[in-house]
Amino acid sequence: MGGLLLWAAIGYLLGSVPYGIVVAKMLGLGNLRDIGSGNIGATNVLRTGNKKAAALTLLFDAGKGAVAVLLARAFAGEDAVQIAALAAFLGHCFPVWLGFKGGKGVATHLGMMWALAWPIGLVCCLTWLLIAAVFRFSSLAALLATGFAPAFAIFLGQGELVVLLLVLAVLVYIRHADNITRLRNGTETKIGSKKTE
Ligand code: G3P
Repeated sequence: MGGLLLWAAIGYLLGSVPYGIVVAKMLGLGNLRDIGSGNIGATNVLRTGNKKAAALTLLFDAGKGAVAVLLARAFAGEDAVQIAALAAFLGHCFPVWLGFKGGKGVATHLGMMWALAWPIGLVCCLTWLLIAAVFRFSSLAALLATGFAPAFAIFLGQGELVVLLLVLAVLVYIRHADNITRLRNGTETKIGSKKTE
């Protein structure tokens, strides 16, 4: 039990680093909270117009999810792996450093998926890319990619991940409540646009 708590703490701390804010500050792009949706993720960093900053944010936010999983797998058992993954996701969404007001967890989710079971990570990323290419909404792509992840796990023979992926999908939907409202109202911002309604 103590071991699981330790991995929860390690996962949370890894996930809690708000790379979007760090990258935007280091590249002189200003405070992400004052830009676009105010979110700390790569989609909002892209609204600064700096693609390199957005790519770095995506890489680091995905990487911290993957690192949490890989560390737990290297030094503990599969129970710790799932705890560390969930904790990293929660760390990104509710970081103590930002008064528990963090991001939406999509990049971290996708990163941890690659480390948990790369075929699911691949299919989730392909789903994100396909929906993003067709509809140009990052939020819609994220909702569908993470929402279908439990089904992908079943089809790809990774049933032991279904409960974790269901929990993550619910959390992603909760974190996208504003985006869902904007999608329904037809006011969601398309990828590449700099403004949100
Ligand atoms: O990954 C976050 C994305 O799904 C939505 O971001 O900034 O449009 O709310 P944003």
